[in-house]
Amino acid sequence: MDTPDSKNIDYRQGTVSAVDLHDAVRRETPLHPGERGTVGVSVLVISALILIFGGGHLFSTSNGFNSSIYISSHYVPEPRPSLSGAEETAAKAAWIDQWMSDGKKVYANCIACHQASGLGIAGQFPPLVGSEWVDGGTKRLGAILLHGANGPFKVAGQSYNQLMPAWSTLSDDKIAQVLTYIRREFGSFPEGEDGVVTTEMIKAARDEFSGQAAPYTEAELLAIPADAALSGARVDLQTGEPLP
Ligand code: HEC
Repeated sequence: MDTPDSKNIDYRQGTVSAVDLHDAVRRETPLHPGERGTVGVSVLVISALILIFGGGHLFSTSNGFNSSIYISSHYVPEPRPSLSGAEETAAKAAWIDQWMSDGKKVYANCIACHQASGLGIAGQFPPLVGSEWVDGGTKRLGAILLHGANGPFKVAGQSYNQLMPAWSTLSDDKIAQVLTYIRREFGSFPEGEDGVVTTEMIKAARDEFSGQAAPYTEAELLAIPADAALSGARVDLQTGEPLP
């Protein structure tokens, strides 16, 4: 009854039995372990060689990925496109910034006595910070700078008795710049004013005080009203052009 012949394995008729099917599967020899998808030795060796030589080449030519190698010493940047009209004026530094930085340079003549801070040296050289002379009008300042001052001299309640040298050998520009600098940097200035002293004002001061032969005394300077201003047009801080 249970002979091979009696087994019906006709799949097409759907009559194969589950037991027969599993018998057939069990009879097959299993795959060899070496054939279960492992990578061949030659592929491993080639991959290793690519990594070693490729990596070596990358490291020997990348300079440690330092950004400096990307900027050639022969690199010449394209000139900046020129801006036109209103943009150009905006890009240009304001006239007053240049005037102040020039004034700061002229002030190098003054720091031995008045100090870079403008605080002077107690008992010897008066301060410009908190000085009623710097805070006042431009006329007294023009007179002091062009002809100097000789003590005794009172500044902010303290008495000084030394010589402030005359600076008439400096150009009108330089005197104007240094006065602008000390007024705007160390002082305050009368209301409605911007602290600027112009070349034109110093020219006017030279004429006005040309009769002065010796350094001023305090009494002579006090005779000039504290808020008196040198004549000269005010200027546009952006362009330096006289205001109408
Ligand atoms: C050699 C030292 C010396 C130098 C340099 C000097 N000053 Fe003076 N300055 C004096 C003295 C001293 C007085 C006070 C006058 C006195 O004692 O007779 C004075 C007074 C002044 C005053 C009026 C008083 C005050 O403190 O506000 C101004 C403003 C001034 N100097 C500005 C300047 C400027 C700006 C420079 C540089 C261009 C300058 N001085 C360079 C010594 C000096």
